[in-house]
Amino acid sequence: MPLVSMRQLLDEAAKGGYGVGAFNVNDMEQIQAIMMAAKETKSPVIVQASRGARQFAEDLYLFRLIQAAAELNPEIPIAMHQDHGNSFETCKSAIELGYTSVMMDGSLQADGKTPSSFEENVEVTRKVVDYAHERGVTVEGEIGVLGGVEDGHGAGGSGLDHITDPDQAVEFAERTGVDALAIAIGTSHGAYKFTKKPDGSVLKMDVLIAIHKRLPNTHLVMHGSSSVPKDLQDIVNKYGGNLKETWGVPVEEIQLGIRNGVRKVNVDTDNRLAITGAIRKVLWETPEKFDPRDYMKPAREAMKKVVAQRMVEFGQAGHGGDYAPIDIKEIAKGYANGTLTTQPLVAAK
Ligand code: G3H
Ligand code: 13P
Ligand code: ZN
Repeated sequence: MPLVSMRQLLDEAAKGGYGVGAFNVNDMEQIQAIMMAAKETKSPVIVQASRGARQFAEDLYLFRLIQAAAELNPEIPIAMHQDHGNSFETCKSAIELGYTSVMMDGSLQADGKTPSSFEENVEVTRKVVDYAHERGVTVEGEIGVLGGVEDGHGAGGSGLDHITDPDQAVEFAERTGVDALAIAIGTSHGAYKFTKKPDGSVLKMDVLIAIHKRLPNTHLVMHGSSSVPKDLQDIVNKYGGNLKETWGVPVEEIQLGIRNGVRKVNVDTDNRLAITGAIRKVLWETPEKFDPRDYMKPAREAMKKVVAQRMVEFGQAGHGGDYAPIDIKEIAKGYANGTLTTQPLVAAK
């Protein structure tokens, strides 16, 4: 199966009332882990690469690996997505490579650190939407800013610093025509999201629900959605790691989000923890080993287990065979003739 438009994946998820995990990749083993999990659970899937990942793996290596994944797993719908694009040029280069979806994260300026103004965000996102839709490519925008910093990307601070304003979310969706909207509800990237199990004072599910009520047909995206499970933290620490006590986003809160318009759920940190724990264990218990396959195989298996579990929890499991892919050129025609609308349904306050 060729790579599929993310818009198609999310529209199908909305029809079925489930969420789709978007898992970050940097290398072959992570791509394989996701495909093994998707195959086992019969799930459609979003694979995403950050700017850092594209640089680390080199664009062409990473993209060819994704193409191999699609060729080897023709029964699985896969969307390939640019995570946190920082500029029009970043998104354009992903589209030129063949990505079927891009995130224009205009919530920050191109330095990936400084929060941008609302007007700057609208302007750059609209420019990406025009370019991408002409080519049948999906666009995710972001309004509000997440907490924390990952690989130099992020405004820093707590997740509560720039929570999305529902009125701005409506205006942003109307003026940009994005296919999916990432909102800030108190989560951060990385392992250190919350200092205790989050409640409504730090994880603003009420804001998410308010935005969904105003934008009932807009696909919402939850970033920073790793759950940072204690058992994964414990494995890392048992075998020589040094993680401080921390909490992520409980799966039941993500499921509440999915019941309220969340269609894309971004997960990276949980997989990083699973991989690191598995590698540490092998090297700790058998220090004489030095063949990378001896630790990369269990690492890949550990990530596969986490991804498969999330696929079941998000509800995408079992939906991989529900639909045939629509050619990206047909998707482009749909945007052009208005059958694939990008004007959100806006409910009165
Ligand atoms: O956006 C955050 C993802 O976890 C990607 O992180 O920029 O370190 O690759 P990264
Ligand atoms: P986590 O750090 O919670 O896994 O978030 C990943 C993410 O949002 C990628 O864009
Ligand atoms: Zn993110």
